[in-house]
Amino acid sequence: MLIRAIPSNVTYEFAEDVRAGLNVPGQKELPSKYLYDDVGSALFEVISHLPQYGLTRADERLLRRHASDIVDRVSGPVAVTELGSGSGKKTRWLLEAFCRRQRTSYYPIEISHSALVMCKRELSDIDAISIVGLEREYLDGLLEVAAYRKRDQRLFVLFLGSTIGNFDRAAGVKFLSAVRSILEPGDSLLLGTDLEKPSWQLLQAYDDELGVTAAFNLNLLGRINRQLGADFDLAQFAHVARLNHEARSVEMHLRSKRRQVVSIPAAEVVVEFQPDETIWTESSHKYSAGEIFQLAQQTGFRCEVQWIDQQWPFAENLLVAE
Ligand SMILES: C[S@@+](CC[C@H](N)C(=O)[O-])C[C@H]1O[C@@H](n2cnc3c(N)ncnc32)[C@H](O)[C@@H]1O
Repeated sequence: MLIRAIPSNVTYEFAEDVRAGLNVPGQKELPSKYLYDDVGSALFEVISHLPQYGLTRADERLLRRHASDIVDRVSGPVAVTELGSGSGKKTRWLLEAFCRRQRTSYYPIEISHSALVMCKRELSDIDAISIVGLEREYLDGLLEVAAYRKRDQRLFVLFLGSTIGNFDRAAGVKFLSAVRSILEPGDSLLLGTDLEKPSWQLLQAYDDELGVTAAFNLNLLGRINRQLGADFDLAQFAHVARLNHEARSVEMHLRSKRRQVVSIPAAEVVVEFQPDETIWTESSHKYSAGEIFQLAQQTGFRCEVQWIDQQWPFAENLLVAE
């Protein structure tokens, strides 16, 4: 597999975003995309195996069970691309089904270099596949894939694992509309969405007793230490998972255990934390099955089919660009 790497201004952007997020008056915050460096991507893989985190297994059950049906609904020559592929493990079922039909190009789009390397390891053995990994932000990568599109070729875009839930609802609408604006009528988007479930189940999924999710969250401070020369004392922060009933989301925060001052030289900032003050690092919004049809309509798609896992309520939605 070829990996087209990202330009080298990433550390500069990281420093800018860290400075802006930690200077927000009121609730400090950091963009969740920075959770995924080499360590973070490896920890996310472990999370996907945790008994409490049923989401990945539900997504995979649906893809495995319905792969042929999904692929049969997309006619003609197809290029497959995936937004935030991670290791791409679950995508195997669809790619095998496409490759049985025709030689298939697959373009995973990822900001995490190590996720792309894992993806290559996972999927390169599939017959009749060509993989080109794009180390890019979602929309930059999708624009590039659209530019490679051959005449009469359809784009089949995957956005799995309920990663859409990391956007708040308004930003999710904006993002899907931007995806739609890059596609042609008749192209498809397979969208995975985690559905609402009892509070206890959600809290356990984002705060496992082994502490893997805590390590995943705390690694963000470790990354700031490694890449921006900061002096966060990780032992003085605690992982917190919190329900936001109004937003219908689970939030991850890092809580300062005491008053402390942290300096981040590459971001040219010194930050003071009060006891119990938190940094908001991620939100995972949950959906009702019905609202996906509305979301599709609002963003220039039609939801053609929805498959729901009964064991762990999760929906796989096939959206067709109108
Ligand atoms: C929640 S994980 C899901 C991974 C995989 N799709 C799954 O379902 O298991 C989100 C993935 O998206 C990637 N990612 C996050 N923000 C991104 C962005 N703005 N552009 C490209 N990739 C991004 C992360 O590196 C991570 O691998």
